[in-house]
Amino acid sequence: MGDINQIMDAFRDGHHEFENGHLHGFEGADPYDLFNLWTEEAVANEEMEPNAFVLSTVSANGQPSSRIVYLKDNIDGKLVLYTNYSSLKGEEIDGNSKVSMLFFWPKSARQIRIEGKCSKVPAEISDAYFASRPRGSQIGAWASNQSDVLSDREELEKRVEEYEAKFPNEVPRPEDWGGYWIEPSKFEFWQGRPSRLHDRIVFRATDSDWEIERLNP
Ligand SMILES: Cc1cc2nc3c(=O)[nH]c(=O)nc-3n(C[C@H](O)[C@H](O)[C@H](O)COP(=O)(O)O)c2cc1C
Repeated sequence: MGDINQIMDAFRDGHHEFENGHLHGFEGADPYDLFNLWTEEAVANEEMEPNAFVLSTVSANGQPSSRIVYLKDNIDGKLVLYTNYSSLKGEEIDGNSKVSMLFFWPKSARQIRIEGKCSKVPAEISDAYFASRPRGSQIGAWASNQSDVLSDREELEKRVEEYEAKFPNEVPRPEDWGGYWIEPSKFEFWQGRPSRLHDRIVFRATDSDWEIERLNP
């Protein structure tokens, strides 16, 4: 893992280069470079489930709801997750594409908050990802009407058997299962530091670049 203080000291320096995976300043910096660096360090630091994040969506009547999902890809800066389009989150995203993402890496005393717009990835991307999944997960995607009421566990297991029989060979992707990608408009990098004097660095998207601010902890 990189030296946290070195990275954050570098934020203060005002040089703008990234060297050996370390950040030496943030003017003109790209939040994705820091996002990638922190993600790599979360893996190196053996954070539990480093690619799990809290996805928050908002219902038509303004009620937020949150759940953990996995970050599966970063395609040209769009952060990709996979799920059931007919789930609660899918319905809420249909009604309001503004979502937030939250990564928490306790061993590194870090969180990253992201806000952005969410939309479905092109079908070919979902097809390719679905095809790469183990058969059990593919059958599970058919069997689970995610977020709908289930009378009991047997009902789900019965549906698994039905789809096992229906698709003895290749399993096609269900139409209502696929990827969403989130295009971030704001990142906040939070680094825990002694005496609650934590670092908070915010990147806000402007028309052409990122505006960077430091917030009080
Ligand atoms: C560690 C972890 C990873 C998860 N990853 C996903 C995921 O990638 N996609 C997904 O649809 N649900 C995932 N879930 C389940 C969701 O938290 C949630 O239960 C499900 O998506 C239904 O949410 P909804 O009813 O709000 O749509 C994960 C749960 C945990 C605890």
